Amino acid sequence: MANPYLREVSLDASLNPRLPEIGIADLCPDGIPVKIYHPEFESGGVYPLELICLCSIAAAFRPLTIFEIGTFNGRTALNLAANSPAAARLLTLDLPEQFSGETLLTVHDRDPKYIALRKVGSRYRNSRYRKKITQLFGDSASFDYAPYTGTIDLVLVDGAHSYDYVLNDSLKTLPLLSPDRGIMLWHDYGTWDEVTKAIDDLYEHNPDFAGVRHIRGTSLVIRPRM
Ligand SMILES: C[S@@+](CC[C@H](N)C(=O)[O-])C[C@H]1O[C@@H](n2cnc3c(N)ncnc32)[C@H](O)[C@@H]1O
Repeated sequence: MANPYLREVSLDASLNPRLPEIGIADLCPDGIPVKIYHPEFESGGVYPLELICLCSIAAAFRPLTIFEIGTFNGRTALNLAANSPAAARLLTLDLPEQFSGETLLTVHDRDPKYIALRKVGSRYRNSRYRKKITQLFGDSASFDYAPYTGTIDLVLVDGAHSYDYVLNDSLKTLPLLSPDRGIMLWHDYGTWDEVTKAIDDLYEHNPDFAGVRHIRGTSLVIRPRM
């Protein structure tokens, strides 16, 4: 029987996704070698093609500093660490393990399911890339990003899925990007209603996000180097 997860991601047309598309082949050279850890789909995580795209982007763009919002089990953190240069360092933020249930902004109705499911960092904890990864705990709406201003080569926004959180996470991490070098990625575009609306609104109303593109066959979005 065909594995339903080994497929491209179809965007939900009822969400009216409006971003222009770009192919992964337009972003990364064909044939770029990548290392894939835990390719199988896990609930709350990225699909295999999305994992390949993230690994390819890390291998092609060679970020030395990575900041992720939304660690979950640490599968994307592990794969980004594995495909970035040996000197690269990855910071990954998630809610505290003993989470009170309170957040500064309102999360999406379906977020609590994934907050309860997570085993924060379990995928990378015993890996050879552990030393490249720093686990941060906090609410992405109240976290102090100031120490990282202008120093991050790759940001991945994959935390809470509400409109307010996606806007918060995008706008707060934009100043972290290294001048001329930083790229930003998002997950869950065209599959989660409020993620889609937040990114579309940024694209249409904020010139800092005019360059964002949906990566075809995935729910990933990229803001390439500007
Ligand atoms: C979709 S999962 C991330 C998946 C992960 N990037 C991967 O594929 O390996 C979303 C994560 O965001 C975290 N999260 C939700 N609300 C958050 C908040 N306000 N601040 C920080 N993290 C949050 C959840 O606990 C969950 O682990």
